[in-house]
Amino acid sequence: MRAVVIEKYGVVPEVREVPEPEVAAGAVVLKVEATGLCRSDWHGWMGHDSDIVLPHVPGHELAGTIAAVGAGVEGWQVGDRVTTPFICACGSCAECAAGNQQVCPNQLQPGFNYWGSFAEYVAIPYAQVNLVRLPDELDFGTAAGLGCRFATSYRAVRQVGKVEAGETVVVYGCGGVGLSAVMIAAAAGARVVAVDTNPAALQLAAEYGAVETLSTTVGVDLDAHVTFDALGSNDLVQHALRVLRPRGRHVQIGLLPSGVQLDVSRLIGQELQWLGSHGMPAHAYPEMLDQVAQGNLNPAALITRTITLDETPAALAALSDGTPAGVTIITP
Ligand SMILES: NC(=O)c1ccc[n+]([C@@H]2O[C@H](COP(=O)([O-])OP(=O)(O)OC[C@H]3O[C@@H](n4cnc5c(N)ncnc54)[C@H](O)[C@@H]3O)[C@@H](O)[C@H]2O)c1
Ligand SMILES: [Zn+2]
Ligand SMILES: [Zn+2]
Repeated sequence: MRAVVIEKYGVVPEVREVPEPEVAAGAVVLKVEATGLCRSDWHGWMGHDSDIVLPHVPGHELAGTIAAVGAGVEGWQVGDRVTTPFICACGSCAECAAGNQQVCPNQLQPGFNYWGSFAEYVAIPYAQVNLVRLPDELDFGTAAGLGCRFATSYRAVRQVGKVEAGETVVVYGCGGVGLSAVMIAAAAGARVVAVDTNPAALQLAAEYGAVETLSTTVGVDLDAHVTFDALGSNDLVQHALRVLRPRGRHVQIGLLPSGVQLDVSRLIGQELQWLGSHGMPAHAYPEMLDQVAQGNLNPAALITRTITLDETPAALAALSDGTPAGVTIITP
């Protein structure tokens, strides 16, 4: 099969022939129908993820059809249309038993722990725990986003940040994660302020429900109940922690490979909450899919660009210089 192969960190990968994944017991192999280009793929390519072993195939935000079913997998058949949380949980540890598959210590992530979805086929381990059946009316491009960024933001807004109607929410960074968060928080009835340096991203944020857009945070004062770092920026985190009202919640979604500076005195004195958010488990998908079916959420609107596998290496490398507004989907 053809796949995007990283041979060296930071060097533009190649598209070349590699062996198809084999189907292991408990796993399925999917024909990749669509896969998203997420900034986490860029972090992986840059060498920020210690789980990656080179050579490597990235890609973790995906939707596909089942091409092979491993021994012991029940209820799934070749041809079924599916997505999966990028965090493939084991289903048999204490965290999984408690419903916290997003922090499963045995988790395997396609495109990080093993070869991912920037390819014609990808394996999904622990299939029984992680496969999510797609409604017929949901197209593969839209469904791919549910594998990482849209679902991550759904959990971050609804389950971790617990955004309530009428609250003021600030979303820092309006890429795939941030625009999803804007849409989901606005649908929850929040007053959303969107921050991004790219005017085109801010225009999309306004379309998806932001009532205010900011191209800079310099000199800007706000009174926020909840802030989301949807980029991964120490500077933006400083602003977030400054504009949070007493007992405000900060949700960290963006990766911070160089760490972050925290004013712990203010955290204590104002009882601010610093919350991490990581993906969303498969069992939480039905509620989100219902919101999509009812038209309260429209993840299809986030997609602004569809590219081929051959265009993917350049698009991945171009993330070093910025992000085109909206979500990019790859159709291998
Ligand atoms: N926690 C999780 O489970 C999880 C899941 C998915 C992605 N992530 C991480 O979330 C982050 C966002 O991912 P993405 O794919 O949405 O990224 P993206 O590249 O699509 O979006 C980043 C946005 O930030 C904007 N931006 C850049 N510099 C800025 C600045 N100084 N001020 C304001 N805005 C700025 C860009 O214009 C862009 O719109 C990444 O760090 C990614 O690795 C985490
Ligand atoms: Zn991702
Ligand atoms: Zn587990």
